[in-house]
Amino acid sequence: MAEHPAYPVGLRLTGRRVVVLGGGQVAQRRLPALIAAGADILLVSPEATPSVEAMAEAGEITWERRPYADGDLADAWYALIATSDPEANTQASAEAEAHRVWCVRSDNADAATAWTPATGYSEGVTVAVLTSRAKGRDPRHTAAIRDAVVEGLRDGTLVAPHHRTRTPGVALVGGGPGDPDLITVRGRRLLAEADVVIADRLGPRDLLAELPPHVEVIDAAKIPYGRFMAQEAINNALIEHAKQGKSVVRLKGGDPYVFGRGMEELQALAEAGIPCTVVPGISSSISVPGAAGIPVTHRGVAHEFTVVSGHVAPDDERSLVDWASLAGLTGTLVILMGVDKIGRIAETLVAHGKPADTPVALVQEGTTAAQRRVDATLATVAETVRTQDVKPPAVIVIGEVVTVGGQAPAPARPQPPE
Ligand SMILES: C[S@@+](CC[C@H](N)C(=O)[O-])C[C@H]1O[C@@H](n2cnc3c(N)ncnc32)[C@H](O)[C@@H]1O
Repeated sequence: MAEHPAYPVGLRLTGRRVVVLGGGQVAQRRLPALIAAGADILLVSPEATPSVEAMAEAGEITWERRPYADGDLADAWYALIATSDPEANTQASAEAEAHRVWCVRSDNADAATAWTPATGYSEGVTVAVLTSRAKGRDPRHTAAIRDAVVEGLRDGTLVAPHHRTRTPGVALVGGGPGDPDLITVRGRRLLAEADVVIADRLGPRDLLAELPPHVEVIDAAKIPYGRFMAQEAINNALIEHAKQGKSVVRLKGGDPYVFGRGMEELQALAEAGIPCTVVPGISSSISVPGAAGIPVTHRGVAHEFTVVSGHVAPDDERSLVDWASLAGLTGTLVILMGVDKIGRIAETLVAHGKPADTPVALVQEGTTAAQRRVDATLATVAETVRTQDVKPPAVIVIGEVVTVGGQAPAPARPQPPE
């Protein structure tokens, strides 16, 4: 008899009874999607993995702690048969057939009446890849096709234009600390769809090279105005391009709201009536120390970390930082934009009682191929910055966490092949 291909379909399971037999790894992998689909899930199994147990405790599924019994599938619309007992699986399969319940079998795809596709998600669309025939099934190949499609849509190498009208506007995208792999999936997708990208000096600049030729890339660092006009010029550029109906991405280093002036840009856009979405990013304040082997907290060492801007010196009247209080904290201090002023900052902390031998690390150009870590103490840091020629951008970490990881690891970012 000829083997016909499987017929793909999307089940709308909200409120409908789905019976899962077996609480092991298969159930653990499949249950989240069934829960997300709103199914009324009954798990029948004497045991369950801790994750499955947690789903039952959270009320996401009903768990009956017993083996499968005839009649369990009577009210089901759909069944997942995945016990470790082949005999029980065969009996349950027969019951499913008798009640006309579509059923997936983890132990025997041939005996199943339904197959689970490899699924992924992209912008509200489910990508489901299904092997069409039992013969020659290769689940890894199916999953690889799914990954290729989803990844391609995310990074823009597969282009699927929207046929609905795109909403013009601005996305303030946190690009992460510099490694192009450390932007969020959402940020990368918006970047792939942009008509105009206004980029900062910091952040994943390598991604700009991947943009198609029609995308206008504006270097915010080169916008010609005096230092204090620059932000206004950036705001105007965002507004003007958005008013022309374009999709504009403001690509920022780290997270837009961590010393990133993201709220100022959002407010300027709101005043101009331009819709704006904000995409969080991985802040350098945590990721750059991490890439150099420094955890900002560590059990038994630091129970807090404080992120401080060091762009004005402690005795500068514009400073909003209470350095005397910071000197009294036992946790980690993370200083951004502090390379120029670290000498005055270290002196002030010591003057207010922080031990002069407190460890300090400076991590320059973290997560990029040029990452470099230099260690010092509060007593020596000013001199070390001079002699080692430490330059911005750098994150400065002050506290005992600096020494917990031992030797600094190599840069986190893999080097491109020769
Ligand atoms: C204007 S702040 C922006 C911070 C950004 N919004 C964030 O969340 O990471 C710029 C400062 O961030 C730090 N910084 C950003 N990226 C860095 C990197 N890759 N390596 C070291 N420091 C970095 C430096 O202290 C730099 O002076």
